Amino acid sequence: IPVEPFDLVIFGGTGDLARRKILPGLFRRFRAGQMTPDSRIIGAARAPLDADAYREMIRQGIEEFGGPESKDSESLAAFLDRLDYVSVDATVEEGWPRLAALMRDGVVRAFYFSVAPSLFGPLAEKLHEHAIADVDSRIVVEKPFGRDLESARALNRTLAEYFREEQIYRIDHYLGKETVQNLMAVRFGNLLFEPLWNNHYVDHIQITVAETVGVEGRGGYYDKSGAMRDMVQNHLMQLLCLIAMEPPSRFEAGAVRDEKLKVIRALQPVPVHHIVRGQYDAGDGHPSYREEAGNPRSFTESFIAIRAEIANWRWAGVPFYLRTGKKLKARHSEIAVVFKDLPHTIFEGDHARHRNILSIRLQPNEGIDLTVTIKEPGPGGMRLIDVPLDMTFSEALGQEGQDVPDAYERLIMDVIRGNQTLFMRGDEVEAAWAWTDPLIAGWEARNDVPKLYDPGSTGPDDALMLLHREGRRWREIK
Ligand code: BG6
Repeated sequence: IPVEPFDLVIFGGTGDLARRKILPGLFRRFRAGQMTPDSRIIGAARAPLDADAYREMIRQGIEEFGGPESKDSESLAAFLDRLDYVSVDATVEEGWPRLAALMRDGVVRAFYFSVAPSLFGPLAEKLHEHAIADVDSRIVVEKPFGRDLESARALNRTLAEYFREEQIYRIDHYLGKETVQNLMAVRFGNLLFEPLWNNHYVDHIQITVAETVGVEGRGGYYDKSGAMRDMVQNHLMQLLCLIAMEPPSRFEAGAVRDEKLKVIRALQPVPVHHIVRGQYDAGDGHPSYREEAGNPRSFTESFIAIRAEIANWRWAGVPFYLRTGKKLKARHSEIAVVFKDLPHTIFEGDHARHRNILSIRLQPNEGIDLTVTIKEPGPGGMRLIDVPLDMTFSEALGQEGQDVPDAYERLIMDVIRGNQTLFMRGDEVEAAWAWTDPLIAGWEARNDVPKLYDPGSTGPDDALMLLHREGRRWREIK
């Protein structure tokens, strides 16, 4: 379904994110007919380019990062035709009147701040000074949304000076992923799971986001963040919220975000021995984290495992084990709900532990698998085995090889539609920092040195111990 016509201004329009994700994504939405030809995208950055030079830059970006669709040169030309460029600087007057003159009335106005957070305030001010933004305009901001509670609050305050909360779209691209949305469909679209979704039946929950990539060229940013700020405070916490929240009364922004916020607020402080930080070493021809980050004395974690707890009636006593890391064995993101042991077995001689496990694979190979116990086929009597009831979404839906919109394109279309359900509200972000801040402060005060792990492994051994000592084990990263 096409969205309303829009004028989208991308500040930082010549940057990496714009070239790799935002514009290739918009091109795919254009090709799919969702972005109609009466919409426009205006790149805005300091570089003194003209519109043609900008179009050329974006053409190259789309050809490199836009997948097979970018071969469709006719559509690509039509899309590039919808692009314009204005050279602006948040600290000087020049360029702003031109941007103001370009904006049309009667279409949705959206502004994507793909720039350093220190520019949010100055840009917002200029947008108002020149009456470029109006009361219905939408602004989109990227992570990192602050680096602690204080800075996040300051950013929220700055934005609030110029925009209402209903105009602000804080992106967490994990919420735009198809399977992440499927989490809600599975939980609230089926009767089967919800009655069991609590501490009476769930033993524990594991959330793993494993990556094979290292920090590569992003060392400068990453070394000041680490896995906790880069991944846990946002992406993993969002996953945790969707898994743990109470059913919202409606699938609507306010209702969903209220429930997520309650989960974050119910998270308990985490004791030191429930956190394992790791850093990848050199190995197998791979440079170490410290080499890649260009900081030989770095104590930043490229891996973290946490045993979290949610103090409410539904979840008290159920550990939530979170782990994420770079340079691990495989790219593998999964949420596993591990149900409790049977209260009693009626099968004599069967001493195995049979547990139902619902695993939701986020990427790659998106799908769901439910481990169920059945009788081993054959005449050997009542022997039980555990087998997966496995469904890969693309196979089940006959959509193998089909184009699924990427998280960014889906989220940008939601901005135009004015749907904030899959965006983080200001109070949510602040609550997430309020939980992470003391954990970070704790290890900084102790000068905690992360444990080294081999590239291509599953992280440091201590992370295994986090579960072993409680008689549990991590799911395989494969
Ligand atoms: C980003 C992090 O937000 O998410 C990166 O900054 C990380 O460090 C990336 O690699 C992972 O996203 P995805 O979509 O590849 O799982």
